[in-house]
Amino acid sequence: MKKVVNPFNTVGYISEKYFCDRITELNRLLQNARNGVNTTLISGRKYGKSALIYRFFEELNKEKEWICIYFDIYSTQNLKEFTELLAAKVMQKFPQKESMGKRFWNYLKTLRPVMTYDALSGQPEVHFEFSQPKDYEKTLTSILQFLDEQKIPVLLAIDEFQQVALYPEKNTEAVLRTIIQTLHNVQFIFSGSNQHLMLEIFSSAKRPFFSSTQSMSLSEIPPDIYKDFIFIHFAENKKEITNETVEFILDWTFNHTYYTQFLCNNLFASGSRKPDIPLTKSVCAEILEAEQANFLQYRNLLTSFQWRLLIAIAKEEKLYQPQSKQFIQKYKLGAASTVKKAIDSLIDKEMVFVHIEKNESYYRIYDVFLMRWLQRTY
Ligand SMILES: Nc1ncnc2c1ncn2[C@@H]1O[C@H](COP(=O)(O)OP(=O)(O)OP(=O)(O)O)[C@@H](O)[C@H]1O
Ligand SMILES: [Mg+2]
Repeated sequence: MKKVVNPFNTVGYISEKYFCDRITELNRLLQNARNGVNTTLISGRKYGKSALIYRFFEELNKEKEWICIYFDIYSTQNLKEFTELLAAKVMQKFPQKESMGKRFWNYLKTLRPVMTYDALSGQPEVHFEFSQPKDYEKTLTSILQFLDEQKIPVLLAIDEFQQVALYPEKNTEAVLRTIIQTLHNVQFIFSGSNQHLMLEIFSSAKRPFFSSTQSMSLSEIPPDIYKDFIFIHFAENKKEITNETVEFILDWTFNHTYYTQFLCNNLFASGSRKPDIPLTKSVCAEILEAEQANFLQYRNLLTSFQWRLLIAIAKEEKLYQPQSKQFIQKYKLGAASTVKKAIDSLIDKEMVFVHIEKNESYYRIYDVFLMRWLQRTY
């Protein structure tokens, strides 16, 4: 097993031990898999969707063997690339030496792909050069049918699924839905971070995927559970951290998984045996300083009004009523309609998101570190 030097992971997934909570979500995913229900997993960025999928794969295989395939389609721009990526993922899952791998390679050869190997990772890549767009649909169907014919059940997790809504082929959702309906041995998780597009795909009565999956959303890990997780990992490494310090960490990072992990990782890495609030504050300052050049770049991407609005949202932390007189006057923002337009644009650029709570929702800056930097700088 890989030796873990820092228990607070900031990329990918290590193992159950370094993964906090998500018990309810995990049980739901297991239950859905056992009962043939496909799941849609929606959350804002960096709450831990991808890590949860990996954790789920691990748990699923404890019960019985499943073929679990994860593929992130964020970088794909059309059905061709989607199909090629799926073929490559299946191929990577079954090395040529193994019997199922051999069968898949033999089968794939009939589609006359161009095979290449990634220069850095050495992983196989697949390219199809068809003249007819329909051929990509046929290929996609046949790859999924191949998986459907396996003796072991298959779980296919398609991450950043909202990307299909942006493909030039407007029928991608219909094509996928039609194929999926015919499968008996392959189950799906469709996950995505663009809440607006994901809801359009799965909740609009006009769209093919309407009401075809069980929807699940992922938000903050409950603070008490996260607190225990942080305590345990510091204590296991003979570091004493006070309750106040952990509360400060969760508060400063808004309990937003990636940012909490990142701060804990850096605090752990500082080497102190007794990390306290003053040390934590200095680690926070270092994080913001390291990011400063990136944050300044954002200013070039926004209009001066959008930038001013961003600062105002940072100062409010949670903005419940962006068009209220009180907010507009406090930050001298002019007309409510201009604020609305600028907020929509900041949402489009994924700089601000709407956090939906039980009874009300508020606007917040996505990147917690950017929010803290704006608060400190302006
Ligand atoms: N429950 C958890 N316990 C501990 N660390 C976690 C947990 N969930 C996620 N993480 C860590 O937080 C970081 C961000 O998680 P992840 O990449 O899964 O989020 P995401 O929602 O998929 O983000 P994105 O929207 O950018 O794809 C990763 O380093 C991951 O290991
Ligand atoms: Mg992800």
